[in-house]
Amino acid sequence: MSIASAPASGRTTRLPPGPPLRPWQAVRYLRDPYSTAREYAARYGRVFRVQTFRHCVMTGDPELVRQIIAAPVDQYAVNYEPGPARVFGKRSMPMLAGRPLRRERHIIVPPFHGSAVAATGQMIREVTLATFGARRPGDSFVVRDVAADFSRDVILRTIFGADAGTLDDFRSAARDFAQSFDYVAFLWLAAFHFDLDWLPPNRRLARTRRRLEDLLQAAIEASRAGTLPETAILNRIVAARHDDGTPMDDEAIRDNMVTTLFAGHKVNVASLAWAFHWLHSRPDCLNALTDELAPLGPDADPAAWAGLPYLDAVVKEVLRLYPRASEIYRLLARPMELGGYELPAGTDLAASAAILHYDPDLFPEPDAFRPERFLNRRFAPHEFIPFGGGERMCPGGHLSAYVLKVALATIVTRWRYTLTDTRPLQVRRIAGMMAPGNGVPVRVAGPR
Ligand code: HEM
Repeated sequence: MSIASAPASGRTTRLPPGPPLRPWQAVRYLRDPYSTAREYAARYGRVFRVQTFRHCVMTGDPELVRQIIAAPVDQYAVNYEPGPARVFGKRSMPMLAGRPLRRERHIIVPPFHGSAVAATGQMIREVTLATFGARRPGDSFVVRDVAADFSRDVILRTIFGADAGTLDDFRSAARDFAQSFDYVAFLWLAAFHFDLDWLPPNRRLARTRRRLEDLLQAAIEASRAGTLPETAILNRIVAARHDDGTPMDDEAIRDNMVTTLFAGHKVNVASLAWAFHWLHSRPDCLNALTDELAPLGPDADPAAWAGLPYLDAVVKEVLRLYPRASEIYRLLARPMELGGYELPAGTDLAASAAILHYDPDLFPEPDAFRPERFLNRRFAPHEFIPFGGGERMCPGGHLSAYVLKVALATIVTRWRYTLTDTRPLQVRRIAGMMAPGNGVPVRVAGPR
């Protein structure tokens, strides 16, 4: 990207300023995007260029974030390198832009909202009891490990139904697939463009993905034959039709289901670990939550839990402090003016949640865990972006918030815990997402 001079209109066409683009600058950013992004915003202003996963123009200014997420879908092109296609598949939503993206989302997004999500409440409680409830008073465990089993079973049962006979096969296939990604992620992060078929991590990824695809194809056929459990979200996707009356083809369904399995089974792990950490470091918040939940009892209708304001505020505050994506990316298909800069097509944009969610004008004392802020104020979609925004917004956001609420309510109404590692928490990037470095070790103190 070239540097041009300022035009007479006063609007500049230069690229924004930023730190020198050196490999260690990228490494530093990737290790600690939260404080690095905020430091750059303080030094370079509301728009700057930076090397993250890629060379991009970043902003966390609310008005500019609004502009980025409100832009029409054809403003952007696919912004992934070839590597992610190996994980998600070339027909999945992250690999599409413009009209094809809108067409796929028309089928995939609705089943992850409304009645289909509400119907998962009892199942989420059962899985919470089977995973967190398996620990007895005095037992110690690492929240991240139990949350991983919990998250994986919830997303599998959401997509394939509660008693799918193949749940065990899916469990092991999803685990192997996720593990091979963790390995490949290192190559992406370190080398960005390491996309060679013969590399052993890529071969392993292809092998584990094929196994998952075979299971998915069998589930698609079971859905068509009417033998998949009724609650399975896959049934709704197989039955759905595009505007022209055609169904989504099998390859697209498989790729999108691999993507949702992958996205869904990882992200709540970090959120649950953060929630444990904050609630048990802040007894006042835990007490406020238990007081709110107590009148409904531990066997309440999950839909009633979902409507509780303080529980909602706790979940939002967890998502604000360490959003799983420290920034969301868009690749310009057409030029765009942003904050006084004329950015050419081909520029990567990053809307930074790491900056936005710590804006003291929006979130006073931004480093503090203060769920009340969400009770006292409603935030616009461009002021709070844990699930991204606009036409690429996370299809699983509604489901995830619901899962977190039902899991936390189940846990908090039944058991008490103590944190067993009280050292200052380190934040680490695990499989591309920011998570508590120690996984949050706890001991079960007893029933509540
Ligand atoms: C706490 C949980 C979750 C968080 C914080 C989260 C966050 C995000 C974010 C920030 C994005 C990027 C959005 C953008 O670019 O505007 C995203 C995309 C995506 N998420 Fe989630 N997500 C979560 C759970 C889920 C779940 C449960 C699913 C599956 C049902 C899911 C499926 C996806 C998919 C498929 C995309 C790509 C969408 C596209 O490229 O069009 N996510 N998510």
